[in-house]
Amino acid sequence: MPSGVRKGLTSYGDAGFSLFLRKAFIKAMGYSDDALNRPFVGITNTYSDYNPCHGSVPTLIEAVKRGVMLAGAMPMVFPTISIHESFAHPTSMFLRNLMAMDTEEMVRAQPMDALVVIGGCDKTLPAQIMGALSVDLPTIVIPVGPMVVGHHKGEVLGACTDCRRLWGKHRAGEIDEAEIEVVNERLAPSVGTCMVMGTASTMACMIEAMGLSLPMGASIPAPHAERIRLAEASGSVAARMAATGGPLPSEIVTPSAIRNAAVVMQAIGGSTNAIIHLAAMANRTPHSFDLSMIDEIGRDVPVLVDLKPSGAHYMEHFHHAGGMPKLMQNLGDALDLDVSTVSGKTLRQIAAEAEDVPGQNVIRTRADPIKREGATAILRGNLAPDGAVIKHSAATPALLNHRGRAVVFENVEDMTNRIDHPDLDVNADDILVLRNAGPKGAPGMPEAGYLPIPKKLARAGVKDMVRISDARMSGTAFGTIVLHITPESAIGGPLGLVRNGDTITLDVAARSIHLHVEAAELERRRGEWKPPAHLTEPSRGYLALYLKTVMQADKGCDFDFC
Ligand code: FES
Repeated sequence: MPSGVRKGLTSYGDAGFSLFLRKAFIKAMGYSDDALNRPFVGITNTYSDYNPCHGSVPTLIEAVKRGVMLAGAMPMVFPTISIHESFAHPTSMFLRNLMAMDTEEMVRAQPMDALVVIGGCDKTLPAQIMGALSVDLPTIVIPVGPMVVGHHKGEVLGACTDCRRLWGKHRAGEIDEAEIEVVNERLAPSVGTCMVMGTASTMACMIEAMGLSLPMGASIPAPHAERIRLAEASGSVAARMAATGGPLPSEIVTPSAIRNAAVVMQAIGGSTNAIIHLAAMANRTPHSFDLSMIDEIGRDVPVLVDLKPSGAHYMEHFHHAGGMPKLMQNLGDALDLDVSTVSGKTLRQIAAEAEDVPGQNVIRTRADPIKREGATAILRGNLAPDGAVIKHSAATPALLNHRGRAVVFENVEDMTNRIDHPDLDVNADDILVLRNAGPKGAPGMPEAGYLPIPKKLARAGVKDMVRISDARMSGTAFGTIVLHITPESAIGGPLGLVRNGDTITLDVAARSIHLHVEAAELERRRGEWKPPAHLTEPSRGYLALYLKTVMQADKGCDFDFC
């Protein structure tokens, strides 16, 4: 089997010439034959001036290269797409599959014997792993790591749970214009990913539990020297994988590893977005994925990690309390600890070596959990025949069984235009409904599910309401919010048939979401229903591919041909 520079030659009809030409060009970089005769380790470069979460990527790349070379292989850095949450229009989710395809095709196209992916901002790690799983080349993941916390008036701040909380206070008139500008400069005090249990941290923890990154890879703060050493060590592991040809992602991401990731997601109070990404990653393997698994695990596995938005602390506190190894030790037989990892150790060995930190209260035991049940439940009912998601660990307990009157917004724009209008007919016990915000509807399934509390209610002290939609929500957000209603309204899902004034019941204990409208009336409304204009008008380029082939949330929003 050819390796290194001899692998995957460009087709000119003469293999000898193809190699001759390739070497002639690559020698322009000054490489020696000794370097070119080594196994190649590909390293993705997702640095971008538009992606502050990945600001440390150049430093990490240098450390990975050092590790690869110390172990006798040849590092080859190559660029791929980089996506930052707040710099991606219309949404980062719209571009996740493009990044997965970019990563997959660049790994297939260029010669490499092992792969190091460095990512972190929400969609990047799932995209990179989706690509790596499809190629099935030995791969190790290095998350860029979480930011350190910020401080304001004696209070600890974190992006972006506190962005939302403090912006909510500003909307309610409790924080003035000058102070909110000061807060703006303190919410993200370093490079790295959001330091609460948002999507980035959730994915990094799940990936560590899946065995794709080295121990503590999820939690070491981005600016710490320890993360640079982890990158160097990951480079050495990658060099070993390049020489031995394994383990392959298909040997690591087994049904047990997928289940372990779901257990960890529940135990950390993880982001609801992670369910979509886990489905997408699992669907790139031969193993099936069913939303019911998430709910079944959630009934058994308690929330053990006390991090915002479900709890009180931040990622650096989780790290100093022992990180993922300590959590896995405390989860014990809720996990399959006998799975193997890229480190060469099983999860059982890693958990056994977890640091014991006296007095820490961030990572709890199963006997003393933060919440008795897991963070997230799957709802079904006539409003969501294929499922919906609620993060009940971050909801208002009194609203988890609630019957209310629907106040409907047709799409994100309609919601933005009317939500704060003084004449909006809305009360605190109504249910806010947003539609046409799903994978095809917006398009790109924006994180619009966290509908703001209408200003007049916020000013009257209302902090939470039941909100339902086919949209997503940032993992850093909180509230009684039903998301990912499937099928989405834009393709004819029942959410599109709800009218102002209809009654809806949310009953999380019964795992149900129900629209109290007779079936015959729903059929009559269905006859009048029309899809949004952008789904009937011609489109081009990536948007056309996306609209034609993106699947629903319960399938991970991957393209149907992937
Ligand atoms: Fe990048 Fe939060 S914006 S992880």
